[in-house]
Amino acid sequence: LRVLGIEILILTHTYTGTSIGIGVGSAVGFMLLVLATFFVAQRMIIPIDELAKATNNFDKARELGGGGHGTVYKGILSDLHVVAIKKSKITVQKEIDEFINEVAILSQINHRNVVKLIGCCLETEVPLLVYEFVSNGTLYDHLHVEGPKSLSWVTRFRIATEIASALAYLHSSVSIPIIHRDIKSSNILLNESMTSKVSDFGASRYIPMDKTGLTTMVQGTIGYLDPMYFYTGRLTEKSDVYSFGVILVELLTRKKPFSYFFLDGDGLVSHFVKLLADQMLVQILDPQVIEEGGKEVHELSILAASCIKLNAEDRPTMRQVEHTLEGLIVSKKFVQNNVEVEKISE
Ligand SMILES: *[C@@H]1O[C@H](CO)[C@@H](O)[C@H](O)[C@H]1NC(C)=O
Ligand SMILES: *[C@@H]1O[C@H](CO)[C@@H](O)[C@H](O)[C@H]1NC(C)=O
Repeated sequence: LRVLGIEILILTHTYTGTSIGIGVGSAVGFMLLVLATFFVAQRMIIPIDELAKATNNFDKARELGGGGHGTVYKGILSDLHVVAIKKSKITVQKEIDEFINEVAILSQINHRNVVKLIGCCLETEVPLLVYEFVSNGTLYDHLHVEGPKSLSWVTRFRIATEIASALAYLHSSVSIPIIHRDIKSSNILLNESMTSKVSDFGASRYIPMDKTGLTTMVQGTIGYLDPMYFYTGRLTEKSDVYSFGVILVELLTRKKPFSYFFLDGDGLVSHFVKLLADQMLVQILDPQVIEEGGKEVHELSILAASCIKLNAEDRPTMRQVEHTLEGLIVSKKFVQNNVEVEKISE
């Protein structure tokens, strides 16, 4: 990466100006200052000229589609690094806050299953974020294809384990625990070797160590949203556990959580739980999963059901979920010894 050695003094000046220009509150202004200092120290600053060149002047043809929090462009830097560049629509204060929030969070994280932030451009009104380019679409795209066959069971299982590992890391390994708040299959990116990368941290929250939950404006996506959080506004890591459980159900059934309604009006989650209790899960499982999966399909279903329990305290932590999944992989390895299974237990 080509990096400009800008002096902190100049950035400070730029940022004071920008802050006034867009009417950013002083807290945000201060945050930007901290960030600018941080990025200069980390050599992550990329000049706007470089990004304009990389995207052919933010050409419409380079758009990778709008995420929930801005437009994403594909770019090629002068060193031939392929990157994704995220640009917020600068209309709403909330979006700027989310943007800055995302930078602050991602700059702390280093995990193979979390999309990597390469750098940032602070010369425009809103910072542009530069990520590693994850080329192979989203889990949603791959799972909900036309026709009877989708991702193999082994791949689905591995992806579930990778997401669990990323979330366990976010919740417990980083200096301040981070709650993602918008875990869903369309926020799970896949690279060419089908490794998953959790993305879109715009709505994420840091959780101060001494608090067990904080009341916030409810954010999330219908179908994946923890009902307990929805009613109480009290946010804890267990809300991510719930959303993860919904992804497990989605992987097991290949049904879309936000648009599935059973005859009596049940959503995907409640229908799944009822069928599991009545030992009639075959009615809703993806036929491909029944065909390719073994004993662990049932165990994964039980794990999913524990994650989507209504009472947040009854749900396991992501670390426990990760260990359970790893345990299932190990036992599977002893049962059958084919290459695919070997590969996922690396
Ligand atoms: C994603 O990767 C798979 C497996 O490598 C490949 O067959 C497929 O064409 C890729 N899809 C996209 C959208 O790049
Ligand atoms: C996919 O991501 C993993 C983890 O970062 C990496 O090891 C692997 O090389 C990547 N695959 C490709 C084809 O870039």
